[in-house]
Amino acid sequence: MSSSKIKAASNASIAEAASLLADGQLVGVPTETVYGLAADATNPVAVRKIFQAKGRPANNPLIIHVDSPESARRWVHVDHPPWLADQWQRAAAFWPGPLTVVVPRSADVVDEVTAGAPTVAVRVPSHPVMRSLLAACEFPIAAPSANPSNYVSPTCAEHVRQGLGDKVAMILDGGECECGLESTIIRLRSDGVELLRPGGISVEQLQDAFGSVTLSQAAEKNDSRQSDPLAAMPAPGMLAKHYSPSKPLRIVDDWRSDEIDPSRVARIVFAPLADSEAARFGWYRSLSQTGDLNEVAQHLFTAIRQADTTGCELIVIDRCERSGIGRAIMDRIDRAAG
Ligand code: TXA
Ligand code: MG
Repeated sequence: MSSSKIKAASNASIAEAASLLADGQLVGVPTETVYGLAADATNPVAVRKIFQAKGRPANNPLIIHVDSPESARRWVHVDHPPWLADQWQRAAAFWPGPLTVVVPRSADVVDEVTAGAPTVAVRVPSHPVMRSLLAACEFPIAAPSANPSNYVSPTCAEHVRQGLGDKVAMILDGGECECGLESTIIRLRSDGVELLRPGGISVEQLQDAFGSVTLSQAAEKNDSRQSDPLAAMPAPGMLAKHYSPSKPLRIVDDWRSDEIDPSRVARIVFAPLADSEAARFGWYRSLSQTGDLNEVAQHLFTAIRQADTTGCELIVIDRCERSGIGRAIMDRIDRAAG
């Protein structure tokens, strides 16, 4: 593993990444949400390497990334019935962007991608480097988040190197991810959409576009499927314990300062504490100067990773209202708290 695998995005490095992918190799790639572990989605051998590298259960399907809603059409069946064609149009209006849509798959999708499911998850990412890479590839890109299974998702190239540096041929550096949380995942339904994972596109935005948003059981944290990993999995990655640092993490109002001395606590806040208050903690990071939740989302995973490498015993983190991007922030924090 060496930092030389990280290459700043340029025409040359993007062309090199495209040719490594065409050759069946794995590449770490930037998206606006989190970094992905990319492979040629049409190459079953390459797709299997993703599962091996991440230690990911084979029954947990992957998202395919395409450069436009039009290029998605070869991989999906969305022309009939008419309500589906209509919902697909509404979803496509969010692209390019942090929305993933689960729809019936075409026979051309390789089984390894969908884990045998009759559906496929599709997304058109907006990150300019990822868009150039997709333009340079003659195939869609299968990519889960580029972290070992169950660890925190990577939001910069260095995170990918730390977790999977010896498993990838190259890491394309596109800077810090703008969104910082994974995409919103929805299933299209005749009566609206079902939310499988909250993310960069808010429930309020989905309500405006689709009228009705059903919160699926899978999007709720305490999901009983966790006790039976082989059960049918409507949103298989949504396990209650996920995105976890190795140190215990607690939401601030579940923590009493007489329980563990603050000097042994890594404290993550959404807006700065007074200096005297901050100084009580063993380690301290504020995710935004003003409590802006988009900034909180962007810096959340980096701060959790940093807190995880301190000598502190416990990570204690703020909470926010579950609306807008706040819903996705609290979803990830709940899962990290386990
Ligand atoms: O922002 C993102 O979505 C990032 C970037 C790289 O695009 N990708 C990502 O992939 O977060 P991953 O694999 O870490 O999470 C994808 C989730 C998993 O929970 C998986 O179970 C679910 O999508 N999924 C994939 N295909 C599905 C399908 N056909 N039906 C239901 N859920 C599906
Ligand atoms: Mg993931």
